Formats: sequence, structure tokens, C-alpha cells
Amino acid sequence: MCGIVGAVAQRDVSSILIEGLRRLEYRGYDSAGIALIDDNKLQRFRALGKVNELAVKVNPNQAGAIGIAHTRWATHGVPSENNAHPHFSRQKIALVHNGIIENYKDIRTKLLADGYEFESETDTETVAHLIESYFDGDLLAAVQKAVDQLEGTFGLGVIVSDDPNTLVACRKGSPLVVGLGIKENFVASDVSALLPVTNRFIYLEEGDLVVISQNDYQVYDANGEAKELTINTTELSADAINKGNYKHYMLKEIHEQAKAVADCLEGRISENNVLDSVFGPESERIFKQVEQIQIVACGTSYHAGYVAKYWIEELLGRPCAIEVASEFRYRQSVVPKDTLFVTLSQSGETADTLAALRNLPMEDYCGSVSICNVPESSLVRESSLVLMTRAGPEIGVASTKAFTTQLVSLLLLAISIGKVRSMDKTIISDIVRELIALPRQIESLLFLDKQIEAIAENFIDKHHALFLGRGVHYPIAMEGALKLKEISYIHAEAYPAGELKHGPLALVDAEMPVVVVTPNDGLLEKLHSNMQEVKARGGKLYVFAHQGAKLEEPGEDVVVEMDCETRWTTPILSTIPLQLLSYYVAVQRGTDVDQPRNLAKSVTVE
Ligand code: M6R
Repeated sequence: MCGIVGAVAQRDVSSILIEGLRRLEYRGYDSAGIALIDDNKLQRFRALGKVNELAVKVNPNQAGAIGIAHTRWATHGVPSENNAHPHFSRQKIALVHNGIIENYKDIRTKLLADGYEFESETDTETVAHLIESYFDGDLLAAVQKAVDQLEGTFGLGVIVSDDPNTLVACRKGSPLVVGLGIKENFVASDVSALLPVTNRFIYLEEGDLVVISQNDYQVYDANGEAKELTINTTELSADAINKGNYKHYMLKEIHEQAKAVADCLEGRISENNVLDSVFGPESERIFKQVEQIQIVACGTSYHAGYVAKYWIEELLGRPCAIEVASEFRYRQSVVPKDTLFVTLSQSGETADTLAALRNLPMEDYCGSVSICNVPESSLVRESSLVLMTRAGPEIGVASTKAFTTQLVSLLLLAISIGKVRSMDKTIISDIVRELIALPRQIESLLFLDKQIEAIAENFIDKHHALFLGRGVHYPIAMEGALKLKEISYIHAEAYPAGELKHGPLALVDAEMPVVVVTPNDGLLEKLHSNMQEVKARGGKLYVFAHQGAKLEEPGEDVVVEMDCETRWTTPILSTIPLQLLSYYVAVQRGTDVDQPRNLAKSVTVE
């Protein structure tokens, strides 16, 4: 999604802004731009494509001590230089925007009638002109008046040509942070953009506006009242967000999973139990009431929630429903008494997931829990009970370590609820023992790297792939298919293996790779039968077989053996080879692994 960076300093800020945009590249974008004020005149550079293409366009002689910059992920209007931000109004106002202005057409009609000329197809340009129409020397007042008329979600950064020491920014639905330096201040969509220049941040709250200058800043609430917000010091270092010796962030993040899981567990478990109150002091009271659970999430996080449905119903004997946030938020759901609401999100900024939480009739629920990876995110700040997954920054658009740490967190959730409802202590200690062994087992699965890289060659010229799973491995198959489609652009579908004969079997022929993870569980025999159905139609099987779950007559099938004997953590382990498979297929097809086309890391618009 779009990214914003802004700076006011005593030095030229163009390189700070460009570096900030580079650090926001992971969010996904199609064009980029920067505006500076030099000698009371607005200067602008924009480029279609990558930030590097913008960087070469920026005139090295063009200095500016104030500026705003943007990476655009197209919503209204095609990706083009003309539609790229910043947008200007009458060479006076320059503006960058994240989000969507829903009532822009009405405002645009009025502004056209007032003589404003539009150069782009964007909703954003409307806001620039609207602010200009209110500007009489006070930028904050003009932005406040404009914002009052806007419907939708937005983060804005605005400068005006004749005031090179004032930048106004605001947030409604789109995240925005203020970075505090020494005689220089900044705004950005997230902290990662500003780590080279500061580690002190203020997280704006919904509806807030902020005015920043070189030496000062002031936050205002939606009613225009001045307010104080806490200054936070982040422990993230500027170096934490680089690829190290890996070719792609995704590969680095796949390899970081053993550590991420260990970090997720640290201080939360003993040798045979989950510690009390890992979900906070209020959790015991709430968990005692829980009769059922509703999980809401999107994408990979939704798949994690789907796995948890199987775990929770088996371990707690309570109903657990899972739904994608974009559906849940707009329908009338029936909420049985004492339902716990659970949101899952890597970024904590996913618009649909946040909206589902924000619109929740809390009186119908006994409590809400969020499992999230970004401590400063909106989801974390707005949830009552929270568990951080501690996966560390995830930059690749394809979620990997965020998923496995979500699964670990969900097991911690199931046990934490089970503990206060007299869950069998032997089962708890079995799960905890498996969790303790998990980092080492993940490490050992990463040695399959080379074998999977070779197998990936078989997928290079394929257009479709099927992923099959049964039981708790059905959502793992869904996650495997999502990974393959999002980074290699191969159409991949997941099916519960038992559904094959109800339709998808018609697709199976020698050109259709069929990927199956075979856990050694009670459904193994059934799964083997489903695999025979594929073989009988000439389909090619790629089997990731857990210990004791090999095919008796593999024939032409490609089999990768996974040497782990587990019960509860099996789906977490099964994920690793599927991530490697999609990674190597994408690399061999030459796609943009870390920033796949059309996708964004943090989906802050609905
Ligand atoms: O930040 P979130 O976990 O809320 O993001 C949800 C999805 O957008 C995300 O998981 C997406 O599906 C990933 N690109 C999958 O790899």
C-alpha cells in the first residue's frame, strides 16, 4: 500500500526522503514521487516503477529543507507518472495521501465549478485543491476544514510553498507516525522509514492532526484540541531491516523462523505448561467465561486462524468459527453468548481486520484478543488482550515467519483458555514439549532447501497447480497454494482431498502438479486413497511426507521426506517445505519475489 515520508530540517532532506521511500518499498507500490520547497517554490519529481527510478530523476542540485515523498499503490487511476503523488494545487499546496477518499467525486464537481483544473485521475488531487480553497495563510486550519469534509480513510502529508518550516499531517484509518530528531522532525507511514534518522516516535491516534517544524511539533485531536501523546523509543535498529547475505527478504525470513518461534515462546512457557497471564492480567477472568470463539483475519492470517479452528475444537471442545474480515465486517452475524473475538494480523494495519474489530458490538462478546506482529500497530493499540508474535520485521510481501509464529501463538491461546477450564495436564505438557522442540525441527527442515530447489524446476512452465490436504492440513494446503500463486503467478488452488472427486479431479492430467502434505495421522489412509485417484488420472504428485507417512509404491511421484515425529505442531512444520517450494519456483520463473506485482504488504485500504 502507499507509503508516506515527510521531513522538516535544517539540511537538505531529499536523501532522507528517498531512503525513507526505499524502506517503505516492501509495502508494495507502482510509482513514487517527492516534492521539496526550494526558495519558496515547489519542486516535484515523479517516476513510474521503482524508487531507484525516482532517485535518478531527482536533481542533485535541488536542495530543500522541507519535503514530502510517496510510494503509490494505484486505487483511483492507472499507475502513471501523472497519477503519482505528490499532487499540487496551483503551485502552492503539495500533498501526499494514503487511503481512499470515498466522496471525492462530489467534491471534485464543486471544485471544477470553482475553476480548479485537474491533472490526474486520482481521488487525492481533489484533497490538494480542497485544502488550497480554504488556505488563507494558516495551513493547519485549511487542512482541518478540508478533512472535516472527507469521507473514507486517509493519512495525509501537506506542505505549502510560502512556508518552508511547516508540514501538516493527519490520520484517519491509515497509520502515521511522527519521528522526532534534533532540530529536525519527520512523519512516515511506519517507523521503518525513519530508522536511519531517529528512534523516537509518536504514534498518532485516529483523527489526529500534527503540525511539525524544525524545532517543534504539536498534535491536535479531531476537534482541534491540542493534545499530548507519549514519545516511544523503538528498539528496532536501521540494520534490522536488510537482507543480510540472502538474495531475497523472503528467503531470509523463511530461515529466520526457528529463531522467530523461539522468541515467540521465550518467557511464556515452562517445561510443561504455558505461564499464567501471557495474554495479560485480565485474561484469566475473560478466558473463564469463553464458551466459543470467533476468529477474523485476512490472507495468510486467515489460514492461521483456520488451523486454530481444528486445534481449538479438539482441545477445548468448544465451537470455533473462522471468517475472512472483509466478509465478517459487513454481515449480520449471530453471536452466541460468551464468545471470544480473536483477530490475527501480521501488520496490525489491515483495514478489513481493523474495521471488524472497531465495529464489533462488544456487549455481545466476552472479550477480544489480537495476535499481531507489530507492537506499534493500530490493532495492538485498540485491542484489550494482546499477544505479540515477536517474529521481527517481515519485509517480503509473502508472509512466512509471521504465519508460523501466529500458529505458535494460537496454540498458546488454546492452552491458556484450556488451563482455566481444566484442560488435561498431560495434553498441555505434550504440546509444550513439542513447542520446545519446534525451533530445532524447523532448522532441520531447512536442510531440504537444495532438494526442494531442484523439484521447483518441474513447476517453471506450469500454469496451474493443486494443493491437497485433509483435516488440519487443509488450511496448510490453502497457505501453500496462496504462497505459490502470489509470488510465482501460477494459478494454485487448495482442496480438502476428499472433495477431489466432487469436481476438481476433472482438471487432473499430466500437466497438473498436485502437491500433498501427508502427516502420519488418522486420516492418512484416506489421503492415500485420494492420492491414488490423482495417479489413476495421470496426475503428477509432489508429496511432502512426515515420518511414517510415506507412500508404499511411490512410482513416478516426487517424495520429500520430513523427519519429524510430532502430533500438535505438525502443521507448523509442514509449512516450511511449502514456503521453500513457492520461493524456488518464483526465483526460477524470474518474478519479483519480495514485491510481487499488484500486491501490498500492509493492506490499509479495503
Ligand atoms: O498483516 P495481515 O496479516 O493482516 O495481512 C493479511 C494479508 O494481507 C496477508 O497475509 C497476505 O495474504 C500475504 N501477502 C500473504 O502472504
